[in-house]
Amino acid sequence: MDYHVADLKLAAEGKKRIDWAEHDMLVLRLVRERFLKEKPLAGVKMSACLHVTAETANLCRTLKAGGAELHLCASNPLSTQDDVAASLVEHERIKVFAMRGEDNDTYYSHIRSGIEHKPMITMDDGADLVTTIHSEYPDQTGEIMGSMEETTTGVIRLRAMAADGALKIPVFAVNDAQTKRLFDNRYGTGQSTVDGIIRATDILLAGTNVVAAGYGYCGRGFSMRVRGMGANVIVTEIDPVKAIEAVMDGYRVMPMEKAAPIGDLFCTLTGNINVIRPEHFELMKDGAIVCNSGHFNVELDLKGLENMAERIEKGVRREVDAYHLKNGKKIFVLGEGRLINLAAAEGHPASVMDMSFAVQALTTEYAVKNHEKLEHRVYEVPESIDKWVSELKLKSMNVAIDKLTPEQEKYLATWTMGT
Ligand SMILES: NC(=O)c1ccc[n+]([C@@H]2O[C@H](COP(=O)([O-])OP(=O)(O)OC[C@H]3O[C@@H](n4cnc5c(N)ncnc54)[C@H](O)[C@@H]3O)[C@@H](O)[C@H]2O)c1
Repeated sequence: MDYHVADLKLAAEGKKRIDWAEHDMLVLRLVRERFLKEKPLAGVKMSACLHVTAETANLCRTLKAGGAELHLCASNPLSTQDDVAASLVEHERIKVFAMRGEDNDTYYSHIRSGIEHKPMITMDDGADLVTTIHSEYPDQTGEIMGSMEETTTGVIRLRAMAADGALKIPVFAVNDAQTKRLFDNRYGTGQSTVDGIIRATDILLAGTNVVAAGYGYCGRGFSMRVRGMGANVIVTEIDPVKAIEAVMDGYRVMPMEKAAPIGDLFCTLTGNINVIRPEHFELMKDGAIVCNSGHFNVELDLKGLENMAERIEKGVRREVDAYHLKNGKKIFVLGEGRLINLAAAEGHPASVMDMSFAVQALTTEYAVKNHEKLEHRVYEVPESIDKWVSELKLKSMNVAIDKLTPEQEKYLATWTMGT
């Protein structure tokens, strides 16, 4: 079988980790049980480019239970859990091409092997698979029934492709499903980013000045959690509405230029490039810590920082590099500017990925069933999937809610009843 993983001997450890995550993924388990019986993906070749974590492994098991022939590569060179990758090969017979710390050439060769698998469905976290298919394998677009996109930045890129008339396959914005974005981006990124920062640095957050760049779903989650641990949070934004929201949520809001000399710890969560640049690094305190939990490794201008440095001391701790600047100060960069929650911790907890990945699996089923009707554009996830996933998640949490009475239903649907 084709695969490229670090060490198959790690498979037993990986399986333990996958089984542990499964305990908290009840909704996905129910999808898997149905998929096993109904085989809605029978004979469907699929390539997924996702963070290779224990939660993703449970999604892979589900897709495979549905009958898919699956190829998996990493959506980030630092997020792969090598033991999980080994277990997927050894125990699930899935073609995995992912190794933690793989270099850029290997990363893209793994993406290409996913395309050479000739997928009929693709699944992306940041649109690397889809954009590589369009640029290097354009003849293959005709074979693709649909593609699922897991994250904000990927959806933004795909919408830009659709607006340019460049998109040649139907895409589903899984990221924008309510049961994904509200919980995964906010509570998942919030908690796991704090976890990654603490594992990398062991700093005390209480009393620390933390600068959060971006107050979208991820930024809100992160700000809320670090404030909960006693940090003084400053938010930077470019969107006036989000900035007002941050002010009214009780944070200080200011431009990065003003925040730079105040912050002890900086975290970018914007999906944008070069959010922290040399002019900001120049103003920072000696010993300031910077990291990214937004998109890939593009939010910190590390090339610019490198040019300002007299020397770079790699690995002063695991996932911490010290940049000794010509101005005599040092800046600590975590996880080489890649997503810190995946580089230094384990990504989002399983309970939150349960919803995101149930949406992935069900939207894949929907795309396969309906592919003949789909056009080359970005689709929202059907509302029925959000509803189903949220109802089951509540049930798994043992939480019941009220139902509309017939009178209330009528009241909400009519304009003739008056006030
Ligand atoms: N770490 C993870 O595991 C993880 C999980 C989910 C999403 N993400 C990624 O995190 C990023 C943010 O996702 P989101 O769902 O919060 O998106 P979002 O669109 O809700 O929020 C992004 C915010 O950043 C702001 N912004 C853009 N450029 C800025 C700049 N230069 N300075 C300050 N603010 C700026 C925007 O105005 C917006 O409010 C995306 O790249 C997404 O793919 C990461």
